[in-house]
Amino acid sequence: MPPKKIKRAKIVAGNWKMNGNKAFVADYQEAFETYIAQKGLGALQGVDIILIPPYVLLPFVGEIALKTEALSLQVGAQNVSGFDDGAYTGEVSAKMLKDMACEWCLVGHSERRSLFAEIESDIVNKIRRLLDVGLKPVLCLGETGEQRDEAMTESVVAAQLKSVLDAFDEQELSKLILAYEPVWAIGTGKTASPEQAQDVHRFIRGVLATKSERLADNMPILYGGSVTAENAQQLFEQEDIDGALVGGASLKVENFVAICVQCAGSC
Ligand code: PGA
Repeated sequence: MPPKKIKRAKIVAGNWKMNGNKAFVADYQEAFETYIAQKGLGALQGVDIILIPPYVLLPFVGEIALKTEALSLQVGAQNVSGFDDGAYTGEVSAKMLKDMACEWCLVGHSERRSLFAEIESDIVNKIRRLLDVGLKPVLCLGETGEQRDEAMTESVVAAQLKSVLDAFDEQELSKLILAYEPVWAIGTGKTASPEQAQDVHRFIRGVLATKSERLADNMPILYGGSVTAENAQQLFEQEDIDGALVGGASLKVENFVAICVQCAGSC
């Protein structure tokens, strides 16, 4: 495996989507504790783990993060309101997430874009709210299967990224991480090949470099889309892949722990 030229944070994030309950949170804690008791902490050191449960489970996941202090385990939300606190029934503000010890929040996930009609201006608003209170956005980018077939992957991803690059300065953007998630690979079992993913990750770094070389070098870019304990290693070996955003496989705790161990060893 060629060494990565630049050291960036290694991150594995588990997006539970609308799944899980309090018992599942307890299973998560037990799985990490059992792994550490049996194999020690070593293999998990050096990877930042972000658990991204539904809103109502955030406080419970926050407790695991506190209890497994030796691990770098952090809490993220799946969504945030584009508004500040106020009369917005059903919304959850960035300030509230911060109060729940959340450090991260997904923005621009393809399910939010396609099922909830979120557009670039919503995404920019949400990022603004998060940055205002010191939360770190995980900006998701990715093309649909039809767009890939029509050779539009680069133009789609560049447009998604540019609308955010244009709205923030370098200092603000340095708080973000990116997740390249080809829509055709999400929840389908059709992972992008390591080469396909690497090509787009390198392209994304090139787009970042148009704003700032430093951002391009330092910003972690996760891959997401049917990542499993079986295919993660090869993805992590790619030069521009710094970790994974894991959906389905994060619902099987042992698989998720295995993916974290692989990232710690090879991202
Ligand atoms: P998947 O989901 O791992 O189930 O494909 C990834 C995601 O939507 O973040």
